[in-house]
Amino acid sequence: QKLDMELAAIEKGGFDHFMLKEIFEQPITIADSLRGRLVIPESKIILSGVDAIQDKLMQARRIIIVACGTSWHAGLVAEYIIEELCRVNVEVEYASEFRYRNPIISEDDVIIAISQSGETADTLVALERAKAQGATIFGIVNVVGSSIARISHAGCYTHAGPEIGVASTKAYTAQLAVLMLFALKLAKVKGTISEERFQELSKELQEVPEKVEWVLKNEVDNIKAIAYKYKDAHDVLYLGRGYNFPTALEGALKLKEISYIHAEGYPAAEMKHGPIALVDDTLPVVFVASKDAYHEKIISNMQEIKARKGKVIAVVSQGDDMTQSIADDIMQVPAIDEVIAPILTVVPLQLLSYYIGVYRGLDVDKPRNLAKSVTVE
Ligand code: G6P
Repeated sequence: QKLDMELAAIEKGGFDHFMLKEIFEQPITIADSLRGRLVIPESKIILSGVDAIQDKLMQARRIIIVACGTSWHAGLVAEYIIEELCRVNVEVEYASEFRYRNPIISEDDVIIAISQSGETADTLVALERAKAQGATIFGIVNVVGSSIARISHAGCYTHAGPEIGVASTKAYTAQLAVLMLFALKLAKVKGTISEERFQELSKELQEVPEKVEWVLKNEVDNIKAIAYKYKDAHDVLYLGRGYNFPTALEGALKLKEISYIHAEGYPAAEMKHGPIALVDDTLPVVFVASKDAYHEKIISNMQEIKARKGKVIAVVSQGDDMTQSIADDIMQVPAIDEVIAPILTVVPLQLLSYYIGVYRGLDVDKPRNLAKSVTVE
């Protein structure tokens, strides 16, 4: 018994939980997912899986992304980025809906499958169907040799290492890193990005590990205090616009999974069509509000919440005094290009969920009713 406990402690590398260990590994796992692939001096991205299906990608009328859970949120981020940089239509599908819907698929379609485990039953079956109808499958998978990796025509592994915590953290940011490489490479091949912008975004991507490190070094105590303050909330609303919208969904999912607090993610502008009815002085609203092209709009959304006495917690860019003066509580991240921001802005939200779960006395590594890998439908 004692030996078992000591072994478990060693596996957690000095952290109280796997989830926290995995959150803290992200500067390394993101760097590992970029290493040898992002070659800035040569203005090049090496992804042999993309080379293997380059003709299909050039002809594709659209790209369909199929995934579940957190991996589906990575797909949503990719939709924004690939459409912006590569000017190709992207659709993001829940694998479970896609597989039962008799979707229209042709040989011109490229399907990107995103899966940490590579074993999620719904994703796997959706891919088998699409493959049978002639689509080309590109897998973004963490587990080497897994079922989804094997049925893909080509792909690119994320290098997050084994993820033990049921709620996905480092696998998600590794997926985003790979998807950003994919988008940059495809944009370059298609000629839809200028050399200057390619260089700019490559450099931003390269700097992500140190920016994540900054959050882990400087924001943890502050986030712990915010978690303590809001640990007894019954509902939490997460809002974001544009590139920050999928992060709002992911932040809400993390909180639900780990703390059992009801949480909902919404596009910030959509709140007036429903969620705003929930706002009163007991409702915390988390804004993903790092600086981007929509910044003024998100500030006015925050003011709408404040006017109804809601509590505003915001993820903000360092030095953004305007947002800081409106929000009740802030979590800072270093300034970053809006296209790359999703890899960084999710980190404070992972920590917030983790500490709220811990303060509520819950088993954050193994939340009730959830499985790490869902191999049944
Ligand atoms: C389960 C896990 C989630 C994960 C989802 C998809 O629900 O608890 O963390 O995001 O499955 O899993 P996959 O392995 O396909 O990424």
